[in-house]
Amino acid sequence: MSTTGDNQPTSPATLTTNGKSYKFPTIAGTVGPSVIDVSKLYAETGQFTYDPGFTSTASCQSKITYIDGDEGILLYRGYPIDQLAKRSNFLETAYLLLNGELPSDTQFEEFNHAITHHTMVHEQLLKFFSGFRRDAHPMAIMCGVVGALSAFYHDSTDVNDPHQRLVASRRLIAKMPTIAAMAYKYSCGQPFVYPLNDLDYTSNFLHMCFAVPAAEYKVNPIISRAMDRIFILHADHEQNASTSTVRLASSSGANPFACVAAGIACLWGPAHGGANEAALMMLAEIGTVDRIPEYVRRAKDKDDPFRLMGFGHRVYKNYDPRAKVMQETCHEVLKELGIKDDPMLDVAMELERIALSDEYFIEKKLYPNIDFYSGITLKAIGFPTTMFTALFALARTTGWVAQWIEMIEDPSQRIGRPRQVYRGHTEREYVDIAKR
Ligand code: SDX
Repeated sequence: MSTTGDNQPTSPATLTTNGKSYKFPTIAGTVGPSVIDVSKLYAETGQFTYDPGFTSTASCQSKITYIDGDEGILLYRGYPIDQLAKRSNFLETAYLLLNGELPSDTQFEEFNHAITHHTMVHEQLLKFFSGFRRDAHPMAIMCGVVGALSAFYHDSTDVNDPHQRLVASRRLIAKMPTIAAMAYKYSCGQPFVYPLNDLDYTSNFLHMCFAVPAAEYKVNPIISRAMDRIFILHADHEQNASTSTVRLASSSGANPFACVAAGIACLWGPAHGGANEAALMMLAEIGTVDRIPEYVRRAKDKDDPFRLMGFGHRVYKNYDPRAKVMQETCHEVLKELGIKDDPMLDVAMELERIALSDEYFIEKKLYPNIDFYSGITLKAIGFPTTMFTALFALARTTGWVAQWIEMIEDPSQRIGRPRQVYRGHTEREYVDIAKR
């Protein structure tokens, strides 16, 4: 891991444009790439930078998550993801992401108590669900219902009040499992199940999803532990598209519930959080191992829009460290549930083997990402594919909230307002319709 170190001086960058040279300060990361501060570029040169997709642009300074795409490293507040997945739990990881340090016993007890006692939603919120068709996609429901929280919690929408930010962050983390479970129950026509305060965060979620009034439901501790680990893997991921959406929406001072709803909308896309659902649908479409070569050929064909869902990543040009833990969890869940020969798992493992030895994928550095094995695991646990991205949103709410708080507390933060390079018409006279 290359380190530049906070205390190491970094020389300014020199840019020569239109025959003149300019110097811009650089900022070193504690680890990873330094940045060139171009905030004065336009004022000094009259030019903008141009970086569609922000492949070379840092939007902020952050201390929350570090990714090294070449080395396949992911750290939450400095702790490696595989250590947290194996030794921590989701709520402790949420505390770490929000506060920067692992909690003491007392701190965790207070946080856990606060989250547990905010898991119920306002009873009137239930009425929102009946407005949706039963076959509404759970992400459509999540967008609507989470945005509607702004209408219920006026006492935690003032983003400039630290106490209201604390209350809003805990409400969002606590209520997301309840809302996601309600979206699932609504889609399958079963009655909502209320949270139980004597269950831990993830067991409570599974109970709200799979319990029915007609029978007692015992949460399987192995499955609950696996689900909790899946939430840890999905909790945060630096400045990904949905996190950047939450930050941009929040930069106008919009309330956190509306901003998280915007993040949910962005996560829904198949190139982002929607890939877990798309990956499972792709595995189902491939169906059998003998059909894999046809799909690998299509994925390599520039004229074919088909891509291998669950493969590739903007940052990881090596194995996604979360995918390794996800694959282990997948095997653990299938074993616990006695699922011996899942044809989709056979296709997934053979597809991974072929892709990792194929010249095209090696040259383009396309490896399985977190979404490749998550779908098989979640399907085995009992979730329909339409719920996969809702589960991703449930977990990523913690990252969105941590990044939101960091942004609001950053004294340099301003409203996000990118510019453009204009390529349209220059000024011209209006022509009446009779003369066109
Ligand atoms: C997530 O940003 C994050 O951190 C996201 C995430 C998080 O935790 O928040 O990690 C979660 O979104 C994971 C990614 C899930 N998406 C998918 O699995 C969908 C399939 N993957 C691709 O759509 C793609 O890989 C992206 C969107 C993930 C990355 O796109 P980039 O960085 O814009 O890269 P690219 O599309 O320019 O790909 C580079 C090349 C291209 O070929 P060339 O134009 O250079 O010839 O690789 C090819 C692409 O055509 N390519 C693929 C491919 N992914 C990229 N070819 C076939 N199958 C694929 N999956």
